Amino acid sequence: MTALRTRGIEIAFDEAGHGNPVVLLHGFPLNRSMWSEQVEALRTNYRVITPDLRGHGETTVAHEPATMEESALDVAALLDELKIESASVAGLSMGGYVALAFCHLYPHRVSSLILADTHAGTDSDDARRGREESAQRALREGMDAITETMIPKLLSPETLARKSEIVARVREMINGTRPEGAAAALRGMAVRRDQTSFLSEISIPTLILVGSDDSLTPPKEAALMHRAIRDSRMVTIERASHLSNVEQPEAFNRALLDFLAAVYPQPRTPR
Ligand code: MLT
Repeated sequence: MTALRTRGIEIAFDEAGHGNPVVLLHGFPLNRSMWSEQVEALRTNYRVITPDLRGHGETTVAHEPATMEESALDVAALLDELKIESASVAGLSMGGYVALAFCHLYPHRVSSLILADTHAGTDSDDARRGREESAQRALREGMDAITETMIPKLLSPETLARKSEIVARVREMINGTRPEGAAAALRGMAVRRDQTSFLSEISIPTLILVGSDDSLTPPKEAALMHRAIRDSRMVTIERASHLSNVEQPEAFNRALLDFLAAVYPQPRTPR
């Protein structure tokens, strides 16, 4: 782990491999370790950067709300520090909100975009109220109070029934998040801007991934983004819910590697 002190916080991140840079942004309330299978698959051909977003994992949070724009500015500061002008940017769920905010703020710094189990819209009033209740509960009673209601929303029934190691891994990530970090992120997501109209301005190659059983950001939301983003392809990950990269890493990695190989063709070795 490396840490960068910037913008009033300390950003923890890992870096692996060499090649064109790929930044992976995790979901809520998880951390960079959710990308471990993707880092292993990508590191042979790419320089992979996985930060903990503000308030998550080992990254601190200075104030709330932790807006998607704040996190996007953190990512920009990290890329500056690493002397990376532009990168492929991937985000899952909340990471996707941050990826869209980053792309909106810095279109010239994104060479391709990967949006997994996410959507471009904003919250309904009910959803905002639910987030505030969860924030208060986490602050009052600790993460335990929200973990068990979250897990069934993140994982498919099959994963819940048969893959106890994945359930344990997700539980550990959630419980490892500090309540004040989770609350700041919940309040940040509640005020995020609607990026729907921005989608038609995105002209870089974009991959949209979604778990077939994702009920939080369902395939129909992914299809809307696919229709709106000109140069996009969409891949459905079967037998996965919201954490499609954790539940079905092989299928997720195949789609990611195929997409990146098309974006960054490897030089052919002369015969
Ligand atoms: C996530 O997985 O990051 C969250 O489900 C995003 C959200 O709550 O909107």
